[in-house]
Amino acid sequence: MKIFTGSANRPLAEGIAERLEIPLGDIQITRFPDGEIAVKIVENIRGEDVFIIQPTCAPTNENLMELLIVIDAMRRASAARITAVMPFYGYGRQDRKDQPRVPITAKLVANLLVAAGVSRVLAMDFHAQQIQGFFDIPVDHLFASPVIVRHLREQKLGDLVVVSPDPGGMKMAYAYSRMLNAGLAIVAKQRKSPREVESYQVVGDVQGKTALIVDDLITTGGTLCGAARLLKQHGVGDIHAAITHAVFVQEAFDRLSKAPIKEIVVTDSIPLHNPDRLPITVLSVAELLAEAIQRIHSNQSVSSLFRI
Ligand code: R5P
Repeated sequence: MKIFTGSANRPLAEGIAERLEIPLGDIQITRFPDGEIAVKIVENIRGEDVFIIQPTCAPTNENLMELLIVIDAMRRASAARITAVMPFYGYGRQDRKDQPRVPITAKLVANLLVAAGVSRVLAMDFHAQQIQGFFDIPVDHLFASPVIVRHLREQKLGDLVVVSPDPGGMKMAYAYSRMLNAGLAIVAKQRKSPREVESYQVVGDVQGKTALIVDDLITTGGTLCGAARLLKQHGVGDIHAAITHAVFVQEAFDRLSKAPIKEIVVTDSIPLHNPDRLPITVLSVAELLAEAIQRIHSNQSVSSLFRI
């Protein structure tokens, strides 16, 4: 087995390598003078089981293109099997035609990965689980929830209700409510534009409880802050949030600094810059991913990684 990293999240890759007790493979990723990406795999990988760690977070197009080029280089270097380890799958929100004449970019990305030569994908908390079906190669889809729930249990959050900030997140919220033995509620949300949402209704018993809002990602923070404010209006006590992917554009920092949220738990699936002003706890998924890589390599089941 050999593991390599792209440029997207080197600290996470180093954490994975450390747990696997193998060094990261030798790869050069540089630029041609005009900005095109130049890749060279420096060591021999002929006949090897290789893993390339690259979340396709911002700059999404750069990171995605880099991943495709690395996979192409690995295939041409005669790797026996190439697994793309994508702790965050960019373009995952564009997973259906919800308006006329729009693309399904999540499917396009799957096609590009397969065309480049990837043999399998290891991912975590896709925006929609059915993205697995966009691939006709094996996909191992992990949940960050075992890592996050272990942390939350230590917080002893009291009389807890898990809240989905929109109908699309209901399944995820249900899973968390089961794991935390908590109630379940949902916020009805309308997206007015990519940057503006309106959270207008809470369904469920939330009065006087501690709320845990769960979601797969934060981008502008509109969804999370809208839900938190509405929950406060409905008599909720402390509000915590557990979000797998801290995508965070600048306005998310501004919005979240004013929101009534006590703690925001995220993972290191993508690197987080400038979290200082916010009550953010970053949990590492390096061990989870390292264990999955080890199991894939040795043809063992990964389903035990779903247990807490
Ligand atoms: C929506 O379906 C997602 O699960 C997130 O709730 C949403 O993408 C978050 O975006 P923002 O932080 O910009 O509201």
